Amino acid sequence: MEARIPIIVGNWKLNKTIAEALALVTELKNQLASLRRVDIGVAPVFTAIHPVVKRLDGTNIGVAGQDCYWQDRGAYTGEVAASMLADAGCRYAIIGHSERRQLFGETDENVGKKTRAALDAGLTPIVCIGETEAERDSGETFNRIDAQLAGALDSIEPHEVDRVVLAYEPVWAIGTGRTASPAQAQEVHEHIRGQLRQRFDHVADSVRIQYGGSVKPANAENLMRQPDIDGGLIGGASLAAADFVAIVKAAHLAMGS
Ligand code: 13P
Repeated sequence: MEARIPIIVGNWKLNKTIAEALALVTELKNQLASLRRVDIGVAPVFTAIHPVVKRLDGTNIGVAGQDCYWQDRGAYTGEVAASMLADAGCRYAIIGHSERRQLFGETDENVGKKTRAALDAGLTPIVCIGETEAERDSGETFNRIDAQLAGALDSIEPHEVDRVVLAYEPVWAIGTGRTASPAQAQEVHEHIRGQLRQRFDHVADSVRIQYGGSVKPANAENLMRQPDIDGGLIGGASLAAADFVAIVKAAHLAMGS
């Protein structure tokens, strides 16, 4: 099997005006231009996607939507179709982030439909899964992960699963400064890969599984060195060019050794 290429994506959440977004990606473009064998992405708010796509045209940095809808068009006020993200030049769509699940009623079933729609639109879905603190404390982590995986991958065929990226984001580690230890994260990543193997056999070895939750320059390399961690979904630390660049370089370094 070929080594999995790590993928680092900055999830900007509800941050950055168009001008701020362009300033940030211009920095990233300048500092990361020569880096190969690591996939890099940024996820601006919808209104900044198209200007950012234009600014990053011809570079090694892709653009992600932070969500998408599964219908292509129709009476769905406020939604943005996966195919429209592709039309705007996106390469990725983040799907099922825990903030969408917790604050906006996203269900496992909807995550499955959005994942299907993203693949059909030619996007790489980045599907987020992860347990809450209460679920971890009551020993429910693996059950929760399994249910989320089942929902997300319901309609995915073995021949296309390697186009899906998974992001393990323990909810208790998001924005809290409490990172999962490399061993804690690896334990869940290994479990996820085991589940993928049961469903999809050896193709599971090609699927990239990102870690997300308080990834910083200081902890990135140790996380990325874990055998089943193939990159990161970065929140707060993706808003400053220096931090995000340092994390991308840490992933690159961890892969090379
Ligand atoms: P933080 O890196 O701010 O903890 O956020 C993680 C996250 O939710 C990325 O999607």
